[in-house]
Amino acid sequence: MSEIGQEAVKMKINIDSDIKKAKTLPSKFYYSPKIYKRLKKLFDRSWQFIGDKSLLEKNNAHPDILLEGMVNEPYVLTKDNEDIRCLSNVCTHRGNIVCEKACKTKSLVCGYHGRQFHLDGKIKFMPEFNEVENFPSNEDNLPEIEMDFWKNLIFIINKKRCELSELIGPMAERLDWLPVDEFVYRPELSRTYKVNANWALYCDNYLEGFHIPFVHKDLNKELEYEDYFTQGIDNTVLQIGIGKDDENTFDLPKEHQDYGKNVSAYYFFLFPNMMFNFYPWGLSINVVKPKSPEYTEIDYFTYVWKEELMEKGAGADLDKVELEDEEIVESVQKGVKSNSYDRGRYSPKREIGVHHFHLLLEKYYN
Ligand code: FES
Ligand SMILES: [Fe+2]
Repeated sequence: MSEIGQEAVKMKINIDSDIKKAKTLPSKFYYSPKIYKRLKKLFDRSWQFIGDKSLLEKNNAHPDILLEGMVNEPYVLTKDNEDIRCLSNVCTHRGNIVCEKACKTKSLVCGYHGRQFHLDGKIKFMPEFNEVENFPSNEDNLPEIEMDFWKNLIFIINKKRCELSELIGPMAERLDWLPVDEFVYRPELSRTYKVNANWALYCDNYLEGFHIPFVHKDLNKELEYEDYFTQGIDNTVLQIGIGKDDENTFDLPKEHQDYGKNVSAYYFFLFPNMMFNFYPWGLSINVVKPKSPEYTEIDYFTYVWKEELMEKGAGADLDKVELEDEEIVESVQKGVKSNSYDRGRYSPKREIGVHHFHLLLEKYYN
């Protein structure tokens, strides 16, 4: 076994629950292939956002691979009349991928030997199988993959360990008043960013506003740094950006707990890898996709509510903010591999979110 392998097997994450005493994650976490491999279990058991119901407006079969590079589970969303399902996209004959691209179809047909399935996953037809005993059985159907919704947003999970509501509860509670169902997905405003850094390093950076005055000079002009709010709630971290005045902020309902505050952004992190960023113009969902120990892709899904507000406030020019973040995170990736660095300390005032994330990693990784 390589040196890194031995270290990883021995490695336990140990984060003090008292932020004033705690040290950050061991730096190995951010580059060891062995540790990366062990994380599959964690991602297998976490809910993942994959898109919204509009994926099935024009087509009734939509295939993809769940977190390719980590979970690697091929699935296909299908719509049969009004029923939406998520099915395994692996043929029950010899394992070929059944549906190759989004389409409108009456049945799913495997291109290898012609096995056909109904849109609910039940096997429909198989050539040359007349003499096969006990065929077809339930095992020849495409299994369903667990799926649930928040508003029109679709989430799936490979190995279900908890309800979706347990994960998204704090976000739903705070932001249920927003008509997310009416937000429109805009593919032309959505994109994928590529970062030469570990996925968790990218999350660490997202989870603190500490770096805003240093790294995001323009964004900093929009936000009241002293009022920036961070709180770890169960498996989420909430950050609230407060504007300098009441321009470009949310019109909160009178009974809302934040009523009276100039909220210009709600940033909800859903453990381990999703970011739901609510702005007065709509919603930007970022899914952090671990591809390899030191390479990550971030899918940005843009949902527009009030287009006229897009170029204003903390939610304007997200591309610039993203590139500034990428540059700093890639710089940190080089630093954490140094022999002279292992663990740092947290600012109890400014790094509550990072500490909460590391505690969750400790809980689920060990
Ligand atoms: S693998 Fe699908 S029909 Fe053979
Ligand atoms: Fe940032």
